[in-house]
Amino acid sequence: MKIGIDKIGFYTTPLYLDLTELAQARGVDPNKYLIGIGQEKQAVIPPTQDIVTMGANAADRILTDEDRKQISTIIVATESGIDNSKAAAIYVKELLQLDPFVRAVEVKEACYSGTAALQFARGLISLNPDEKVLIIAADIARYGLETSGEVTQGGGAIAMMISAEPRVLAIDGPSVPYSEDVMDFWRPLYASEALVDGKYSTSVYIDFFQKTWERYQTLTDQTLSDMAAMIFHLPFTKMGKKALDAILGDQNDPHSVLMRTQLAASQALSRQVGNLYTGSLYLALLSLLTRSHNLQSGDRIGLFSYGSGAQGEFFTGILQADFKEMVRQADVEKLIMARKQVSVPEYERLFRAQIGYNSKNVFLDLSQDHEKYVLQGQQDQKRV
Ligand code: CAA
Repeated sequence: MKIGIDKIGFYTTPLYLDLTELAQARGVDPNKYLIGIGQEKQAVIPPTQDIVTMGANAADRILTDEDRKQISTIIVATESGIDNSKAAAIYVKELLQLDPFVRAVEVKEACYSGTAALQFARGLISLNPDEKVLIIAADIARYGLETSGEVTQGGGAIAMMISAEPRVLAIDGPSVPYSEDVMDFWRPLYASEALVDGKYSTSVYIDFFQKTWERYQTLTDQTLSDMAAMIFHLPFTKMGKKALDAILGDQNDPHSVLMRTQLAASQALSRQVGNLYTGSLYLALLSLLTRSHNLQSGDRIGLFSYGSGAQGEFFTGILQADFKEMVRQADVEKLIMARKQVSVPEYERLFRAQIGYNSKNVFLDLSQDHEKYVLQGQQDQKRV
């Protein structure tokens, strides 16, 4: 039985920061951000959006009434949790008006947990092929104003329906997970911004990619020539280039050139939005499937998922006959084109305006947020 991604949708806020302007404000050569890091724009998250509202906004864009009735499990993958106990999935389930006879949980392992959710969903569906699982991978990447990670911030949510006989990507073959206890990026419970050993994190990422990719090849006898594209978790787009270069070197044979072209297609949306943490790999997938002109049904895609701390996983999927039509429905270009630019001072104001951990009663100004689902504030320490 084929199991995999049947639908995929994306939401980010209607606000972005131009990174050339950020570079100028920080006294940095813009080419460091545009070329060295590979980011052009960054999603700006107003205080009226959080992982719950962004997750619901993403899912609402792809779910039909029929889908809502069929979902039996909802898993929210995030490292930007709004509660240490209650799962964000409960709120999302309620906003989407799913059936009450639903299992709703949250999973965490930095940027990797969207892939954990996908693997758990495969297990559930293999036990019960009628089951449909909704995965939400939602995050706000925050490193802090004037930090070296600032240029790699971003935010948004991916929503995926996982089912038998999927119409986008059937997960196929062995998956190769690999984990080690390392401190490359973490966020203590008291902190609203991540702590990071930036350069170290990029080298752990590449090491995990090489280890999992090599083992995958040993287990399957497949090589790079069996892949129509290789896509990556993209904390910033240059990271994907570094990973691909680690296995391609400076080879210029036609397949290596194709891999680089496909990588560019997979980086296009991240370049405009920034890091989605858990959703980033799946934004790369959506970007590849909407931007590449070199893909057809039956092609095998290699996916590398990475979460600091650290967990990596390499796995592959086979494109299905209806993938083009299914990703067209996500209407990503319209979402990206409709965004409005905010100035650096406005971005800084919004960055500081997020509801804090100790806020008791907060009522947010909703006049600027016209999205379907918004965070109204916090009353008696309960989010509204
Ligand atoms: N023109 C063109 N390129 C330039 C340039 C210029 N004027 N100036 C600098 N550059 C290049 C540098 O040569 C460098 O390129 P390489 O990496 O290819 O050598 C690149 O720009 C970045 O320059 P620095 O290394 O000096 O940048 P930095 O010290 O400011 O830090 C960073 C960069 C480490 C990525 C930092 O932004 C960071 O810590 N980001 C957050 C952590 C992160 O994203 N880690 C990724 C792996 S962990 C993960 O994947 C999980 C996750 O989501 C966080």
